[in-house]
Amino acid sequence: MTTPRIALATCTALPDLDADDAPLIGALAARGVEAVPVIWNAPGTDWTAFDLVVIRSTWDYTEHPGDFVAWVRSLPQLLNPAEVIAWNVDKRYQRDLDEAGVPTVPTIWLDPERNFDSRAIHTRFPAFGDFVIKPTISAGSRDTGRYQADVTPSRSLAITHAKNILQSGRHVMIQRYLTQVDTVGETGMVYIDGEFSHAVRKAPLLEGPYRANEDLYRVETMSSREASPAEREAADRAIAALPGLFPGVDGPLLYARVDLLPDDAGNPVVLELELTEPSMFLALAPGALDRFADAIARRVGA
Ligand SMILES: Nc1ncnc2c1ncn2[C@@H]1O[C@H](COP(=O)(O)OP(=O)(O)O)[C@@H](O)[C@H]1O
Ligand SMILES: [Mg+2]
Repeated sequence: MTTPRIALATCTALPDLDADDAPLIGALAARGVEAVPVIWNAPGTDWTAFDLVVIRSTWDYTEHPGDFVAWVRSLPQLLNPAEVIAWNVDKRYQRDLDEAGVPTVPTIWLDPERNFDSRAIHTRFPAFGDFVIKPTISAGSRDTGRYQADVTPSRSLAITHAKNILQSGRHVMIQRYLTQVDTVGETGMVYIDGEFSHAVRKAPLLEGPYRANEDLYRVETMSSREASPAEREAADRAIAALPGLFPGVDGPLLYARVDLLPDDAGNPVVLELELTEPSMFLALAPGALDRFADAIARRVGA
C-alpha cells in the first residue's frame, strides 16, 4: 500500500506551520501518513498530488476571501468540506445560528450597499457602555476596535472605523463589549470529529480603537480551562445545529472550535464558530494531539 499524502494548508508568513500544528507532522508520520505544509496560494501547486488537504493556518485569507473560497472549491479532497468553509469565512453565518436557536452575541449588521452616512451609523451605536466594531470577514482580531459609547471622540473614531470597513465593500458588525471577557475570559471549545476534546481560556484582547498596520494576528494569551456545564451545553448546541445547515455533509466535521463569552447575566453565548482554520491549542490538553492525528489518519484510511 502506498503511504497517504496530506497537505496541511498554511500561509506565506508560516511556511512551516504554526508552532501548535507543527507536531502534527511527526504524529501523522507515526500513523503511516506523510503530511506536508503547503502555502495555500503558492502558484503552481499540484493539489491533486495529495490524498487530502487539511486547512490549518491560512490566516491571511481575510485579505483575499474571494480567492480563498475559489481555491477551497477547486480542491478535490478538502477538510473541512468546501461548502462549510465557504459559509464560515464570513461571520454573517451567525444569523443562521440565531435562527437555529443557538445563543450568540447580539449584533447589529451594516451592509456596505446601504450607503450609511455618519448619522445613520451613529444612531446604530449603543447609548452607553463599551462596544465593538469589526468586519464580518476577519481573523486574529484584525480591523477590530473597542469604543466608549458615551465619549464623543471615541464615537467619532468608531464612525470612522465603520466607514472605512464599509468603503472597502465589507460588512460591519456592531456588538456591545461583553465586559465579563475581562474577568471570566473567552472560552474556546475544541471539537475533534464531532466530539468535545478540550477547552481553553483566551485573555481579553481589545483595549481600544482599531490600529492601522496591525500584525497578521494579535498575540493571544491562552491557558487550559475546565468547561462549565453551561459552556458545554451552548457549544454542543452550535455543533448540533450543523447537520441541519449542511444536509449534504456526511458525518461530523474533522475539526471545530466554538468561542464563547459570558453575556451580562453570565450565560455563555457564541462569539465565533471557527470551522475554517481554528487554532486547536493541541499543546494545552493532554491527548489532544493524538486525537487530532488519529482523526486525520482515519480520513485517509490509515
Ligand atoms: N462583543 C465583544 N465583547 C468583548 N470582546 C470582544 C467582542 N467581540 C470581539 N471581542 C474581542 O476581540 C477578539 C476578536 O474578535 P472575534 O469576534 O473573535 O474575531 P476574530 O475572528 O478576529 O477572532 C475576541 O477574542 C475578543 O477578545
Ligand atoms: Mg476570535
